Amino acid sequence: MSILIVNGATHEIEADPQMPLLWVLRDKLGLTGTKFGCGIAACGACTVLVDGVVTRACTMPIGAVDGSQITTIESVAESKWEPVQQAWVEKQVVQCGYCQSGMIMASIGLLERTPTPSREQIRESIDNLCRCGTYQRVEDAILLAAERLVESRKQAVVDAPKRAASRKKWRRKAGIR
Ligand code: FES
Ligand code: FES
Repeated sequence: MSILIVNGATHEIEADPQMPLLWVLRDKLGLTGTKFGCGIAACGACTVLVDGVVTRACTMPIGAVDGSQITTIESVAESKWEPVQQAWVEKQVVQCGYCQSGMIMASIGLLERTPTPSREQIRESIDNLCRCGTYQRVEDAILLAAERLVESRKQAVVDAPKRAASRKKWRRKAGIR
């Protein structure tokens, strides 16, 4: 049995430890946002994050990720990475859409490591394949997302004292020390 923590939920998986993570996500957990493309770690359609590291799920045996934190496309809309998805919408990146879950997860991996990447760094880092040729729009969306994420971090710092004061006021009113 393997223990996988997927998008914050813990799952006990009864399966051969050699089973690729992609099949567990799709067939056992019903998380079909992660796609199968080549099956040989070449195209990136199956990209997820394992403990924050960009990983191709089609060739990753579940035995090797036992106990790891796995993040899939399904969690993005409710996470701090929502601006990435929003940038994809604003830049109208998607064409057929098949590769885009993997593109977004690879981009999040990049933005985690490099919050303000240059176009060159994006090209070096994102080697996912897109048969529809959306590469230019993917780059534009990553740059927009990076800008928005930096702005929202700055705003969080500005707002922190206000939030702390209102928490303090609320605790005082509630009689909590
Ligand atoms: S399906 Fe995994 S890299 Fe292509
Ligand atoms: S949008 Fe069609 S394969 Fe990338």
